[in-house]
Amino acid sequence: MPPAEEGESSPYRRAIRSFVVRAGRMTSAQQRAWRELWPRWGIGNDGAPFDLVAMFGRDAPLTLEVGFGNGESLIALAAAHPARNYLGLEVHPPGVGHLLLRCEAEGVSNVRIVCDDAVDVLRQRVPDASIDELLLYFPDPWPKKRHHKRRIVQPAFVELVARKLVPGGVLRMATDWQPYAEHMLATASACPWLRNESPTGDFVARPGSRPVTRFERRGQRLGHGVWDLAFRRR
Ligand SMILES: C[S@@+](CC[C@H](N)C(=O)[O-])C[C@H]1O[C@@H](n2cnc3c(N)ncnc32)[C@H](O)[C@@H]1O
Repeated sequence: MPPAEEGESSPYRRAIRSFVVRAGRMTSAQQRAWRELWPRWGIGNDGAPFDLVAMFGRDAPLTLEVGFGNGESLIALAAAHPARNYLGLEVHPPGVGHLLLRCEAEGVSNVRIVCDDAVDVLRQRVPDASIDELLLYFPDPWPKKRHHKRRIVQPAFVELVARKLVPGGVLRMATDWQPYAEHMLATASACPWLRNESPTGDFVARPGSRPVTRFERRGQRLGHGVWDLAFRRR
């Protein structure tokens, strides 16, 4: 089992976040979703460790998505794989509202949503060795050098993820920003509890199961490439 992160309680460590909460406008449909649908699919921020079986009402393989945006990939996967549980973590309330509306439209019962910092949620609430698959698709690349410390993929984050994955569980990442792809590759490759699934020791082919998201389409419009990574917990 990977050890707990060093310096978890350091105020410096906690001051750096991978996001800036934007004052995004919520549509009236998203406001209704928060009022009426949150009680069904949302999980409150009481800080208590998750009881995943109680949360989903069953024991099933868990996919957790960090920073799901508007939830396009999460809802497509959850609808396609009803035998799996899906837990989405996102800090942007309009995106959460969007996913709640999609949950209602699809009538899914295998999705739960937390609106909070994924790093805090993973550290404090997700049991160790409980996640079968962790998805990190198109995280904010923070391209300026002075902002690199804000990138969510850091050695401590990768070790935290390794600790939360079941043995044999997989961390899947994708980005359309080559310098971030190389940073992800170097950081995950350096984690002793993870093994790169790439036969060439770098990137993997795009998984057919990965739905195209808004940020991926944006990258395509800008002419960016896409890099997929997959690392398995030893
Ligand atoms: C560039 S967007 C990509 C969204 C989505 N994965 C996609 O491909 O369309 C990155 C998302 O991660 C969210 N995010 C960043 N840091 C986060 C954190 N620590 N916890 C939860 N969400 C986070 C942001 O709010 C944003 O919605």
